[in-house]
Amino acid sequence: SRQHIPVICIDGPTASGKGTLAAALAKRLGYHFLDSGAMYRITALAATGAGLPIDTSGETAIASLVQDLSITFTAGQILLDGVDVTEAIRSEANGMNASKVSALPQVRAALVDLQHSFHRLPGLVADGRDMGSAIFPQAPLKVFLTASAAERAQRRFKQLISKGISTTLDSLRADLEARDERDQTRSASPLKPAQDAVLLDNSDLSVEKSVDLVVGWWLGKQPF
Ligand code: DC
Repeated sequence: SRQHIPVICIDGPTASGKGTLAAALAKRLGYHFLDSGAMYRITALAATGAGLPIDTSGETAIASLVQDLSITFTAGQILLDGVDVTEAIRSEANGMNASKVSALPQVRAALVDLQHSFHRLPGLVADGRDMGSAIFPQAPLKVFLTASAAERAQRRFKQLISKGISTTLDSLRADLEARDERDQTRSASPLKPAQDAVLLDNSDLSVEKSVDLVVGWWLGKQPF
């Protein structure tokens, strides 16, 4: 059974650095990496591509669309029905749509098996919003990562500018606060720390420092 396969959950809001921390942690430990946000982003891209409304009126159709999607995660690339969507799913507009599809309970339910399928030996680092609270409730280590809105907007700003995408700090901050608000107030698996999660504010921490901290916590949990 999968019960004994190690899993570490890294949950938190938009642009908190979860993705970076979780990927680095997976690499350091030699574990698999689950980017659950990418699944919501792919779903949003597929739904808009199919012309479905991203609200409750499209819920059933989007959930059944999810069952038919062929999603492949390979070295640094994400394929949707064979097409490379690695970049396309990262746009701000698609992120906002991902937040909207993720509020639909049937869509969340349709993605559970796919998320569980990443739970394989030698272990998993799962990145998302509800990894610890809903998808892997048995995980021995759950980290809830936060950073101030100002810091998160700044990080996203640097990311986009380095990709040659022009934007303003103010609009990014407004965007991520709107996204936080929706993610926190939806009734289906709202973004909130699992009861047994460790809170980590990384506003003033380097990625390296954050990884060292979490690896330390993980080793502290080991029976050897
Ligand atoms: O982490 P991200 O920005 O790629 O996630 C995109 C959206 O997907 C985010 O606004 C909320 C949603 N999401 C979710 O509801 N549950 C998850 N486990 C991961 C992401």
